[in-house]
Amino acid sequence: MANKIIVTGGTGYIGSHTVIELQKSGFEPLIIDDLSNSSPKIVDLITRITGVKPVFEKVDLCDLPMLQKFFKEHHGIAGVIHFAAFKAVGESVTQPLQYYHNNLVGLLNLLVCMASYDTANIVFSSSCTVYGQPDQLPVTERAPVKQAMSPYGNTKQISEEIIHDTAQKSSLKGISLRYFNPIGAHESGLIGELPIGVPDNLVPYITQTAIGKRDKLTVFGNDYNTPDGTCIRDYIHVCDLAKAHVVAVKRLVDGENEKPHEIFNLGTGTGYSVLEAIRTFEKTTGVKLNWAFSDRRPGDVEQVWADTTLANIKLGWKAEKGLKEMMASAWEWEKNMAAGILQS
Ligand code: UFG
Repeated sequence: MANKIIVTGGTGYIGSHTVIELQKSGFEPLIIDDLSNSSPKIVDLITRITGVKPVFEKVDLCDLPMLQKFFKEHHGIAGVIHFAAFKAVGESVTQPLQYYHNNLVGLLNLLVCMASYDTANIVFSSSCTVYGQPDQLPVTERAPVKQAMSPYGNTKQISEEIIHDTAQKSSLKGISLRYFNPIGAHESGLIGELPIGVPDNLVPYITQTAIGKRDKLTVFGNDYNTPDGTCIRDYIHVCDLAKAHVVAVKRLVDGENEKPHEIFNLGTGTGYSVLEAIRTFEKTTGVKLNWAFSDRRPGDVEQVWADTTLANIKLGWKAEKGLKEMMASAWEWEKNMAAGILQS
């Protein structure tokens, strides 16, 4: 079986959960990561969970000779799942060149190496950010891609286009997976999201407030045109998301794709407001959150949730875990971090 899969960014949040699911499904994931936003300790924790130590090399995708060396040393690669990218929306606005350089040069180098070493299959980590505020909800993959709100969002749009154009004119086959809002952590409590500094995203901010690392959660805006005035998102458990990557890469390896470049939404299909997310956290964990409203956060879309019909039918994949499980696992992970899981 052609089972070696390179996972770029494989020590990161979604990458590490995907490595576990790949191993569970009989694939051999090979991790490359520059560790700019993750810890090498994750490789040991993956090994503790699955009993199998994945190949890991510290590689910066922007360093073409280093990447070429990796491809040269590892034969028979069946596919690549490409997560490695900078992902902080706000930072991308202040550091656009860094974002364009890292996210686009990294992808270009990867595609050059894949062509040189006859690796045809790529699964790309894209985002629902490409839809902006959709005109119709739930949003399908046919909805127009809107002008990006940030350089980060633009790198996702451009990357999809690079893969699309290349796949029309070469042996490359690609699947772009548009994630909605990944949250939660592995059921083992051993791996999860590791935000550096003050978190931008809602759920790490909730769990850090609950554990006492932050004084107060700020809810950005209460005057949106939604039932309770706060923004609505489609939160998806990171393990459900990870499983979709395994299905997607298998589809390419087995030659079951219907077009050179396919696109799928990955969400649950249900939207929750910020207040509903807070209430679910409080109810599930029994921990009361200190929170207050403030002004809207610039750049936030009002509401977005996915139509997941295409992924359900074509990939045979469906998100299984609900918001309660997502919140419970995120909380377990936060408590384990506080107990020093990463130091042990
Ligand atoms: N929110 C708060 N307080 C916080 C953090 C977030 O009220 O401290 C709110 C936001 O305003 C938003 C919701 O919670 O309404 C979700 O915010 P997140 O930052 O968790 O998620 P976003 O939907 O803003 O971001 C996600 C991905 C990005 C992607 C973006 C595109 O994390 O990678 O969607 O819209 F670019």
